[in-house]
Amino acid sequence: MIETLCIQGGVRLQGEVNVSGGKNAAVAIIPAALLASTPSTIENLPDIDDVYCLRDMLKWLGAKVEFENGVMHIDPRGLTKNNPPYDLVHKMRASYYLLPVLLGRLGCAHVPMPGGCDIGNRPIDYTVKGLSSLGVNVEITGGVIHAETTDRFEGKEVFLDFPSVGATINTMLAAVCAKGNTTIHNAAKEPHIVDTANFLSSMGAWVKGAGTDVIRIRGGRPLHGSTYAVIPDQIETGTLMIAAAATHGDVLIRGAIPTHMESLTAKLLEMGVHVTDADDWIRVRADGALRPLNIKTQVYPGFPTDLQQPMTAMLTTVMGASYVTETVFENRFRYVDELRRMGANIRVLDRTAIVEGVERLHGARITATDLRAGAAMIVAALIAEGDSEIAGMQYILRGYERIDEKLRMLGACVTRKQYQDSAFACVL
Ligand code: EPZ
Repeated sequence: MIETLCIQGGVRLQGEVNVSGGKNAAVAIIPAALLASTPSTIENLPDIDDVYCLRDMLKWLGAKVEFENGVMHIDPRGLTKNNPPYDLVHKMRASYYLLPVLLGRLGCAHVPMPGGCDIGNRPIDYTVKGLSSLGVNVEITGGVIHAETTDRFEGKEVFLDFPSVGATINTMLAAVCAKGNTTIHNAAKEPHIVDTANFLSSMGAWVKGAGTDVIRIRGGRPLHGSTYAVIPDQIETGTLMIAAAATHGDVLIRGAIPTHMESLTAKLLEMGVHVTDADDWIRVRADGALRPLNIKTQVYPGFPTDLQQPMTAMLTTVMGASYVTETVFENRFRYVDELRRMGANIRVLDRTAIVEGVERLHGARITATDLRAGAAMIVAALIAEGDSEIAGMQYILRGYERIDEKLRMLGACVTRKQYQDSAFACVL
């Protein structure tokens, strides 16, 4: 069965919408719960495919897991296996967070190389370096990461070559298990790093400095289960903010953390969008002509690469030239061809997309090539004249909870359509 998203463009989004729990926090916190000696309850989880995939991986490894209404109960006491299966692992990048967790619990792990969105080269060398610094032997053969703790498994000074999200989380998870003090230098500072560190602290770990570029850990403490609610999704919040601005709408986003959104808010203000916020809500309102922009993606607190795609979609109908430079992933402009099919005027030179605003986009049959490309397709379809049908729904469902329902609540004309595989071949 193949699913698509059908959007009738040209509607101003208006009303209120709630943000779901953070995908990138959830996918780190769920495996981390395996480090405890007793059960944990994780709340505010998004109802998305990546969470279901992790649930299945944890069950396969021997943990007892129940997931309902955004709450997951994880009993890690039955964990016995250390080799999660390829068919689950290859579906997502975050599956490699199981590596340090299985090392901490069982001393040895065999994890297939992770998958995830095809947005450029996604090596794991920083993680290998981080774990090796702590005294873990790592070898990659036949597409599987084989890792084993040695008698040198202990806290150390770890210097990351780049503030990689994945390497910071993997090193932090291993360091809470290794006896002694670890300092991670040049750590990533994204909100999900802080959330993972807070969850570890709630389990009894000693982790300080998350959210800065130096994280200190006193490892080897016994960890117990905890009840913990994950933070709201920064990228879903940003996608909704962009969709509101792009449709010249007026949307109140509830349950958000405005400080996580500062780089996007600054750019929207620069364009002439009205953004107001308080403790846990953000209102985005746009009327009149918007101004073109220069954007460069950077690690947090810079402009997030995960919002580059929906932002570029919005800029297609902003008069003048906008320049969007992608510095984090080298292959994150594949979706631009789809925007061109809708009438966008975009040239990509090396790592910069030059977007010349056009009067309007036209609805078309388009394909999401990865999760955030899916967000770009949604924004483009919302502002286009006429009907669009977006294929690649499986990517969108990896990261956006009930996106069709949320957009409908804001007045958009959105439906999901299902095809038998053979019938779909005739559609696109
Ligand atoms: C995380 O990916 C997110 N995924 C991504 O979310 C996000 O785009 C990215 O961070 C950047 O913010 C999760 O949290 C599950 P990185 P991650 O390690 O950890 C290079 C989404 O749409 N690098 O910070 O894989 C790498 O190639 C997504 O939700 C190495 O060279 O990102 C990239 O250029 C997709 N060697 C840069 O560093 C390594 O060992 C940043 O990667 C690791 C990374």
